[in-house]
Amino acid sequence: MSVPQPPEPIPGARLLFSLDPAVSHLNHGSFGAVPIAVQRAQQRLRDEMEANPLRFFTQGLVDRIAHTRRHLAGFLGADPDGSALVGNTTTGVAVVLQSLGLQPGDEVLSTDHGYGAVSLAVQRECRRTGAVGQVLPIPLAATDEQIVQIIRAGLRPGRTRLLVVDQLTSATARLFPTAAIVGVAREHGVPVLVDAAHAPGMLATPVSDIGADFWVGNLHKWAYAPRGTALLTVAPRWRERIEPLVVSWEQESGFPARIEWQATLDYTSWLAAPAGLFTLRSLGVDRVRAHNAALAAYGQRVVGDALGVAPADLPDPGGPGVSLRLIPLPAGMAATIDAARALQTRVGERIATEVAVMSWNGRGWLRLTGQVYNTADEYERLAARLPALLAQR
Ligand SMILES: Cc1ncc(COP(=O)(O)O)c(C=O)c1O
Repeated sequence: MSVPQPPEPIPGARLLFSLDPAVSHLNHGSFGAVPIAVQRAQQRLRDEMEANPLRFFTQGLVDRIAHTRRHLAGFLGADPDGSALVGNTTTGVAVVLQSLGLQPGDEVLSTDHGYGAVSLAVQRECRRTGAVGQVLPIPLAATDEQIVQIIRAGLRPGRTRLLVVDQLTSATARLFPTAAIVGVAREHGVPVLVDAAHAPGMLATPVSDIGADFWVGNLHKWAYAPRGTALLTVAPRWRERIEPLVVSWEQESGFPARIEWQATLDYTSWLAAPAGLFTLRSLGVDRVRAHNAALAAYGQRVVGDALGVAPADLPDPGGPGVSLRLIPLPAGMAATIDAARALQTRVGERIATEVAVMSWNGRGWLRLTGQVYNTADEYERLAARLPALLAQR
């Protein structure tokens, strides 16, 4: 079957980044890539901070953070007064978990598509409080309706104190029907925390359509912000109950300042984040989204073809606009996290191509992303060289 045409490249986009030109960077999903203009914006802020640290921290920084938060929340369709900047999604998850006041016997429900570090955070909070973590298995090929049904069946009203669900999963690159899931959980009186690590910059309306109790997403992946920039949004009824991980001087100011102000840290990543949105808007937000999703789909097909995977066996992301795609690896390959990491390193070293190799439920997967700095030939080169590398097990 013929492979679809790749999208038109975005001219000059690669030059906006300081990525090593000798390497194909097909894994934007793990740590993003910060455009040069955004790096410079952050450096200018650091220069300002170092020119007079006392003035930088004591005169107006809290207001500058609030202003930045409003700007980022506006872009995401989140309530600016119901949102707080945090360092990353993992931190936002930890803030929510430890604010719930879980009791022995309470349950926290999640799925087997959840992000590893988030699952570990749930496990630790359950151990600390005597609550119980329940993980629902959801088949990769499940339809949206089936996903909602499985989750509905797993909710235990009166016992389930939190449902943690991904908006777009990391290991399986699956867009979950988050709004429908939140609707079902609400019918059962169960609060929902949406792990939206990949949503900002990738999905058109990441927050407003969902109505979750808690939503946290990274701007340092697809919204081109410096690393260390995430937004946590909290529904009104929870705002006074949300506590920071570290108590600092804004503790008595309530939400969100008490979450945001974490004493002497480097806040320049947050303050420079609007420069990331500026880059995204300059390129055209919709154009970038469409380009990235089409290029990832193209990469999935060419590399899938090269590995002999039938198009029907290439996982569908479950919706439009997804710039992460999976390709199944031959059975038995990258079946454990260690094996997946080793293969990822080998692909990087031998083919000069950075990819994500994921191990999910005992099966290995290659995860490719599309970004404005990528071109079709990078996926074609990987497709040409990967089969021989995999054959050398
Ligand atoms: C679904 C998901 N959740 C959480 C995270 C954690 O993000 P961070 O490392 O920025 O906290 C990631 C990172 O890739 C992710 O993909």
